[in-house]
Amino acid sequence: MPFSSETVRVLAPATVANVVCGFDVLGFALSEPNDEMHLRLTDEPGVRIINEDKFDLPTEPTRNVAGAALLAMLRAAPEVTGVEVRIHKTIRPGSGIGSSAASAAGAVVGLNHLLGNQFSKSELVEFAMYGEEVASWVRHADNIAPAIYGGVTLIRATTPAPDVVPLDAPPLFVTVVHPQIEVKTADARRILKQDVPLRDAIRQWGNVGALVAGLLKHDYALIGRALEDVIVEPVRSILIPGFEQVKSGSHAVGALGGGISGSGPSLFMLSQHEATAQAVAEVMRRTYEQLGLAHFVYQTTINTTGCRILPV
Ligand code: HSE
Repeated sequence: MPFSSETVRVLAPATVANVVCGFDVLGFALSEPNDEMHLRLTDEPGVRIINEDKFDLPTEPTRNVAGAALLAMLRAAPEVTGVEVRIHKTIRPGSGIGSSAASAAGAVVGLNHLLGNQFSKSELVEFAMYGEEVASWVRHADNIAPAIYGGVTLIRATTPAPDVVPLDAPPLFVTVVHPQIEVKTADARRILKQDVPLRDAIRQWGNVGALVAGLLKHDYALIGRALEDVIVEPVRSILIPGFEQVKSGSHAVGALGGGISGSGPSLFMLSQHEATAQAVAEVMRRTYEQLGLAHFVYQTTINTTGCRILPV
């Protein structure tokens, strides 16, 4: 057999897309939570999906994000007959922390390992975007790219090919709250205005440039000032109960800033110090307890490696 006959085990991280001001162009990977998947090559043509979690996601490959990504990859590797993937998701679909991207990214990283790593990271992003299209009807890469590259990534463009710029960043503590409501990315995109007034565009690209500069210069104060979104957040925040309380309460205890993670409903906050991130977690818990809304809080850091291949 020309390729590996082993089973590969992959850990695929959750991600925070947009990072407040960078709608569809910025994202970072989280150390927790992760999905786990196992892949092996088969003699059965095509993609076979086995779900090993409680989420009841489609197993028909064209309707499954991992399936669609793997089918795209198989089209580019016609010498491969088929692949089986077993998926155990921990990242809840519809949570806003890149659940679909984790499935798609983990699948292509796993298959690439079995094929002797013949595809580049940029090509993997391209394959995985077919999965993202199944979930949100748009081939955005701001969850996929950090899930594959790790760290913070800027996606300068997705056409004609993904132009991903990995960014250096200082140590940052990330607190994420997932209020247990579901916001579908496709719905959260449909409500956005299609036109942006020039004054808002100026403010936004000032913030995106400043956020990138703040990360590269390890300038925490600049990072904090740049975490402002005048275009998407004012529209989407109305979908998320507790948004204003979490934001103002987190600032009050010293967070650098934050906002909606991806298309929500999860909210994230960045902090320079671990103690601040803990205080932010308390603000988040208190907010949702007062609102009587079930929620889950993750206190984590930025994952700098992306999807990881593990011993089986
Ligand atoms: N950039 C995408 C959006 C991310 O905000 O719609 C979705 O996770």
